[in-house]
Amino acid sequence: MKHVISAGQFSNREELEKLFEVAANFQNNDTRSDALKGKILASLFFEPSTRTRFSFESAMLRLGGQIISAENALDYSSVKKGETLEDSIRVVTGYADCIVLRHPEKGAAQRAAQVSPVPIINAGDGSGEHPTQALLDVYTIEKELGRVDGLRIALVGDLLHSRTMHSLVQLLGVYPACRIVLVSPNELRIPEEYTTSLKNPIDETSEFTLILPNIDVLYMNRIQKERFENTQVSSSPYVLDAKTIPYLAKDAIILDPLPRVDEISPAVDSDPRAKYFTQAQNGLYVRMALLQSVLGRA
Ligand code: NCD
Repeated sequence: MKHVISAGQFSNREELEKLFEVAANFQNNDTRSDALKGKILASLFFEPSTRTRFSFESAMLRLGGQIISAENALDYSSVKKGETLEDSIRVVTGYADCIVLRHPEKGAAQRAAQVSPVPIINAGDGSGEHPTQALLDVYTIEKELGRVDGLRIALVGDLLHSRTMHSLVQLLGVYPACRIVLVSPNELRIPEEYTTSLKNPIDETSEFTLILPNIDVLYMNRIQKERFENTQVSSSPYVLDAKTIPYLAKDAIILDPLPRVDEISPAVDSDPRAKYFTQAQNGLYVRMALLQSVLGRA
């Protein structure tokens, strides 16, 4: 695999499991190595990021590689002067062996890949996809619950705009025996393009509290306010807090790609089922495994 653009590319279950094994190995041994010595990663971020950029950069450094970084490329790169994405990518590929790209436009990573001789990793393209987030989400589910098959996994919130949901739902397609429960207000339902090829049983509802007793994974995400105008829904219609958490199944886990805004109350953080900070930490190991697979010697 050269470019990583969509979670749909990870359709081979064995390869996915192999990637997770490598990640688990990095995690269990707190690995530092020089596997990517001499390689340079460019992180080109046209949108804010905390976890994704830092974990990719930390992953590269832990593998002995180096990084060059534009954390605010919209303001501090030649795009500000009117340069096209394609031109910027063509230039940066001359300086780096791989580009991790985050951009506000859906399809930007695909456009970059079309002109790039080096691997492009999609770190979020507008309201499109965020495939590496889905990898760490599924890794976390397997690690915490020991399997994905047979689980009931609820995706809750702004399913129309949330790119992490778009990628995760596709990756769950690799485990057709898990049940997907899609919970969103009617106007923020998931676009069909992300679910049409799935073989999983799927339920769709706008009810939140009712689903809580019968799920194994509760995956929440904030309303993606910056992606739409004139909305009636500006704060999360679904909130996990002291009032709603008593309904949640006793052995369920709670995930959120973060940043958490108003969809999960800080009061939930001390609940043993809250795994969102563990999830963010797992991103480091999964991104190490991914970088090694994309950039390492075969
Ligand atoms: C997500 C994103 O950027 O899409 N953040 C992340 O990478 N963990 C989720 C979000 O912004 O809501």
